[in-house]
Amino acid sequence: MTEAIRVGVVGAGFFGTMIAGACAAHDAFAVTAVADALPDAAQRLAEPLGARVHADAAALAADDDVDLVVVATPNHLHAEPAIAGLRAGKHVFVEKPLGIDASSISAILAAARDASGRLVVGHVMRAFPGVRRMVAQARGGELGTVLEAAGARRRLVHVPADPGDWWKLDRRRSGGELLHEIHELDLVVWALGEPIDVTGVSGAPLAHGEHVVDSVTETVLRTPSGALGRHSVSTSAHRAEWWFRISGTTASVEADFRQGTVTRFVDGAATEVTGVFDDEASNDSLREAARAAQAYNTGGPGPLWMRTAVTCELDEIAAAVRGTSTTLTELPASAALTALRSNASAAEDRR
Ligand SMILES: NC(=O)c1ccc[n+]([C@@H]2O[C@H](COP(=O)([O-])OP(=O)(O)OC[C@H]3O[C@@H](n4cnc5c(N)ncnc54)[C@H](O)[C@@H]3O)[C@@H](O)[C@H]2O)c1
Repeated sequence: MTEAIRVGVVGAGFFGTMIAGACAAHDAFAVTAVADALPDAAQRLAEPLGARVHADAAALAADDDVDLVVVATPNHLHAEPAIAGLRAGKHVFVEKPLGIDASSISAILAAARDASGRLVVGHVMRAFPGVRRMVAQARGGELGTVLEAAGARRRLVHVPADPGDWWKLDRRRSGGELLHEIHELDLVVWALGEPIDVTGVSGAPLAHGEHVVDSVTETVLRTPSGALGRHSVSTSAHRAEWWFRISGTTASVEADFRQGTVTRFVDGAATEVTGVFDDEASNDSLREAARAAQAYNTGGPGPLWMRTAVTCELDEIAAAVRGTSTTLTELPASAALTALRSNASAAEDRR
């Protein structure tokens, strides 16, 4: 039997807890260590898993019982634990976005270049089975010549009435809505490859208490082949949309995440409908989530579709660590760098 990959989790908050729970339930992983800036949070997560607590990411990276460091700290604090893990010879999984500024992103990439371990980025939607099939069809020529990839994540995100000093509403720590909600932009860039041109436009900012968030951001990009990418993100849209599409000269494929479906279109007609996930219960869970109000960190174990998504991601992380998959390792920085270029372009446009 293959030995379990021993996991050290840095950041025992909402998503670190979600990943640790999914690792504990997955045959390929065992959680052996936890570190958090709040010792109580680390202890709460570590104890039921029988994991040890470390004072910080450096101590966790030095632990001989850790093969894979999972970085689930706030977005602006990914570089230090990721670089510590890579320099200590560990595999490193960094939650999305890889970073929120160019210098920390290039520091992580430089550490990864010199490292024996793999750098895996938490672009979880690449691991959805329906999405993987869409990109495989595009790469396999089943859509003809690829002309366009597009994606949207637009919904009303409810924030607590008194969010206090919450990093997710502070763009200096979150990177802003486009970086924080980067999933579909990553799919566009993953499907098309590195863009040469990136243009961003942002709508009027909205106030949430003392915090200001981007209401809408639109990004358009172009690749060397001339294929176009389009992306739209909003956390203040009453008409919700959540989809990803790849279009070629012979067919288009579209994932509608609110419906749990992936549809192939030829000449305007739907010719095949399959699922986003391979089990109908998880697709039903997506449909149910689409009917509910959206909020950050509602706590608890999360809906079925999210647990299935993280399990699919863990399958890909295990395969990446064992050298049999590149789904989560290719173009690690492209989405974050594209988002930074879009934001810079939008800021220039506002001036
Ligand atoms: N893939 C997804 O769909 C998804 C969903 C939610 C969050 N995330 C990502 O996961 C990461 C964590 O988000 P979250 O929602 O769990 O946030 P969170 O605020 O709930 O948790 C962050 C944790 O990190 C700890 N922390 C802060 N600084 C630290 C440091 N220097 N060293 C160690 N621990 C430190 C905090 O005490 C907290 O427990 C973010 O990058 C976020 O973008 C991804």
